[in-house]
Amino acid sequence: MSVNINIEGLIGKAKPFLSNSYAPYSNIHVAAAVLTDKGSIYTGVNVENASYGLTICAERSAISAMVAAGERKPVAVAVVTDMDNPIPPCGACRQVIAEFNPKALIIMHSVKSGKTIVKNLEELFPQPFILEK
Ligand code: THU
Repeated sequence: MSVNINIEGLIGKAKPFLSNSYAPYSNIHVAAAVLTDKGSIYTGVNVENASYGLTICAERSAISAMVAAGERKPVAVAVVTDMDNPIPPCGACRQVIAEFNPKALIIMHSVKSGKTIVKNLEELFPQPFILEK
């Protein structure tokens, strides 16, 4: 049985976390919600650092929460931002999501414009680096 993906519902799960985003340097706030094959939802926000390169994106925060909870398969990832337009996951996040599901649905939403863009990770990241498990 495959899990039903509720696009608006998943965006709604990420939204309340946007205000928890720690982004004093870029002032770009991002929250992510990961829906798994079991129907669970894990959230994350971007966490910046005075040593800029240590910043962790919202998507990787949410994927880490999923793994910590013992789950391994994201079917959809909602990325919500306060930027003017929806933003796609950065290259590092694409690689990290692809580790667990190269076909995950990526839902990008801007709370400012209300715009939503939906793409498959395969389209955003057609050649992930994946080792045989
Ligand atoms: N950021 C994310 O959290 N996710 C993305 O997909 C792109 C960028 C964050 C990282 C940093 O805190 C800020 O946005 C600006 O790059």
